[in-house]
Amino acid sequence: MSAPSSTLTTADAPTMPAGPAAFTLTDDLDHLADLLTEVLAAVRAGRRDRPGPLPAGGPSEVAATVRRRLGPNPLPHQGIGARTALAELTRTLSAGAADPAHPFCAAHLHCPPLAVGVAADLAAAVLNQSLDSWDQAPAATELEHQVVRGLAHLVGYRAERAAGVVTSGGTESNLMGLLLARDGAPDAGLRVFCSRLAHFSVARGARLLGLPARAVVDVDTDADGRMDVAALDAALVEARRQTPRARVVVVGTAGTTDLGSIDPLPDLARVCEARDAFLHVDAAYGGGALFSDRLRPLLTGLARADSVALDLHKLGWLPIPAGVFLSRDRDLFTPLTTRVSYLNPADDERAGIPSLLGRSLRTTRRADVVKIAVALRALGLAGMGALVERCHDLAHYAADRITARPDLVLHARPVLTTVVFSYAAAAGRTSAVNAGLRRRLLFEGRAVIGRADLAGVARLKLTLLNPHATPADVDRLLDAVVAAGKEEER
Ligand SMILES: Cc1ncc(COP(=O)(O)O)c(C=O)c1O
Repeated sequence: MSAPSSTLTTADAPTMPAGPAAFTLTDDLDHLADLLTEVLAAVRAGRRDRPGPLPAGGPSEVAATVRRRLGPNPLPHQGIGARTALAELTRTLSAGAADPAHPFCAAHLHCPPLAVGVAADLAAAVLNQSLDSWDQAPAATELEHQVVRGLAHLVGYRAERAAGVVTSGGTESNLMGLLLARDGAPDAGLRVFCSRLAHFSVARGARLLGLPARAVVDVDTDADGRMDVAALDAALVEARRQTPRARVVVVGTAGTTDLGSIDPLPDLARVCEARDAFLHVDAAYGGGALFSDRLRPLLTGLARADSVALDLHKLGWLPIPAGVFLSRDRDLFTPLTTRVSYLNPADDERAGIPSLLGRSLRTTRRADVVKIAVALRALGLAGMGALVERCHDLAHYAADRITARPDLVLHARPVLTTVVFSYAAAAGRTSAVNAGLRRRLLFEGRAVIGRADLAGVARLKLTLLNPHATPADVDRLLDAVVAAGKEEER
């Protein structure tokens, strides 16, 4: 059977089916500007539709609203046009959003993004560069190289020896740490040691690498949630005895998700150096302290890690995703070296065309570096540090207020910007009342409070990432928690 022939002739100008202007590309920036006006108006309208930090009514009501908006067919045969589709769905999405810019949205490491970061992300989307080859991203390739160098320097690495890549976040960066540590000696096997408060992505990354569950060892923590170094050392000695050839990776955490606790990095580095273990530090949360002169000492020892995960969509106020993986020694990336003729043929590279293909697990890769570069240039390290300090101060204010109130119990002083506490429920009812009051606030659209189960007891968590929130906002949020606790007890 012969292939159908084209109906176009050389005289044909590009024409699109008649109808709404949904076919416009980014060569028409005027049309894009019109659509952006539409989008922002719809975001605003959606915010007005939503009286609090998230929609009231809980999951069933939110799902019903989305279904109603989409109608019976979410993928209609005939389009409804750019303007209508954008306006309708954006408004629905905004009305149904958990709004991290609202001071009562304080559950997760989910920051309100800087306007300048969002605008820069739009530039990345409009230009649609892809970092898997230089001929899809000439300037962005160099921008990523330079920004990664700068971040490596900030961590304390020798920038000319270090290397790194922009990732989708801590999960991908932690996986890269494990993968590259293993692939230095791929046949020897891998054992992973992390504190029992390490992020779950470490164990999941190990599973993705095909390791059995027993290959990941949870090391005990001290009373402050920091890895117990003596226990780590003993575990490493035992592992060497059992599997003398296995590659050993220790994953330290600089900023655990709930408590913000930071493992004793200099001690971890010392033990790893003595026991010939690779040290990866998950600084996805705590890495933000690098921006602050006041808080940077919390990360002393980070430069001795073999690799580091940072996340600028947490304490960096950038729209998701903005992760970074850094390695002290660029040779760590050797196992990812990939040569394919359509992206980085050897003769192109000999001719001076650079390639970042061997830096990433991904192929097509958007230029998330643009927003990182723009935001850091706009605010400077000092500006970013001021935001980190503001949230840190707010967390201490919250801890003081909780301590002062008889109806609340503080679990631990904040290290970074999280505060774990509970509503003082009647004896034996702590878990049920705290879990219930959090859901009550969520379902009524009043507040988004975090949950942290510690020693089997459900507690509450404020993750304070909104530098525009005020002490008065924190007071009102705590009042809302107590009011919901009382309703729950009734
Ligand atoms: C300590 C820590 N590491 C890693 C991650 C995973 O990061 P991401 O969600 O960016 O993949 C998180 C997420 O909250 C985290 O708290």
